[in-house]
Amino acid sequence: MSVVDKVAVVTGGASGIGEGCVRKLWSLGYMVEILDRQSEQATRLADELNLSSNRVKCRYVDVADSHHVEERAQEIWNEYQRLDVLVTSAGILESSANILDMDLDAHDRVWQVNYHGTVHCARSFGRLMRTARCGSIVTVGSTTSFVAFPLPAYCPGKTAIRRFTEILAVELGRFGVRVNGVAPTYVITPAMQAKIDAGERDPEVLRNSGALDLLVEPEHIGEAVAFLCSDAASAITGVMLPVDAGFNATIPYRTYAGGVPWRDE
Ligand SMILES: NC(=O)c1ccc[n+]([C@@H]2O[C@H](COP(=O)([O-])OP(=O)(O)OC[C@H]3O[C@@H](n4cnc5c(N)ncnc54)[C@H](O)[C@@H]3O)[C@@H](O)[C@H]2O)c1
Repeated sequence: MSVVDKVAVVTGGASGIGEGCVRKLWSLGYMVEILDRQSEQATRLADELNLSSNRVKCRYVDVADSHHVEERAQEIWNEYQRLDVLVTSAGILESSANILDMDLDAHDRVWQVNYHGTVHCARSFGRLMRTARCGSIVTVGSTTSFVAFPLPAYCPGKTAIRRFTEILAVELGRFGVRVNGVAPTYVITPAMQAKIDAGERDPEVLRNSGALDLLVEPEHIGEAVAFLCSDAASAITGVMLPVDAGFNATIPYRTYAGGVPWRDE
């Protein structure tokens, strides 16, 4: 697969899952633009990758600010006159909460960054792709895009991202632009590690929640994103692809009321 001269924008690319996507797309030969609000960390990653091949730039953005996102999109278009890939990984995690007792400011912030941030980026960069009549957008959902968790802002927000991905795929399909999402299970990123350190996630539950004896890493998500953006996925649009080591299948299976016929060999 040759992607020389292709341009990829990764929001939240300074850390975790976004960083996994940046590293993978860079390794495939893309010019990569990291859009993140953590400028120092983004610069550190860009400097590291640019030592071997000078194809990474970073720009400050707050995805919750639509004007900000639009400015960055125009800058990038003016610089390259092309845009091939957008990955929307900028996001924040939430602490478990009851809906009736939750802090509304914290609730609104999760929606502003995770859902509205995705909409702002897909809208500004999607317009450029519509004009160019090509491109691939990959949103970042979660296992919470499919089933309920005690995360009253995060879970409905990720479910909304799944539906938004489908709607945008239909809208942009006739312009040759594909729109898909990845839905990771638990991934130990800096954000997830902070939740573990704060006692808000149990690492044992997190490690044993899938069908495979595998801890999903940011690199696995990067691989799935690269696939969705590649010609190998040219007939795929409007899907939210679980990258979950079997999490979605495992949870209902393990709770079957008839009992599970485990057999160890
Ligand atoms: N870690 C997991 O287990 C997991 C599982 C499923 C989905 N996700 C999703 O993956 C995405 C990345 O999460 P992560 O775990 O890699 O977190 P992370 O904190 O390691 O990385 C998130 C990045 O997004 C950036 N960011 C946050 N808010 C921003 C804003 N307003 N504007 C611009 N940049 C912003 C941060 O600076 C950071 O670099 C999120 O959407 C998260 O919901 C994570």
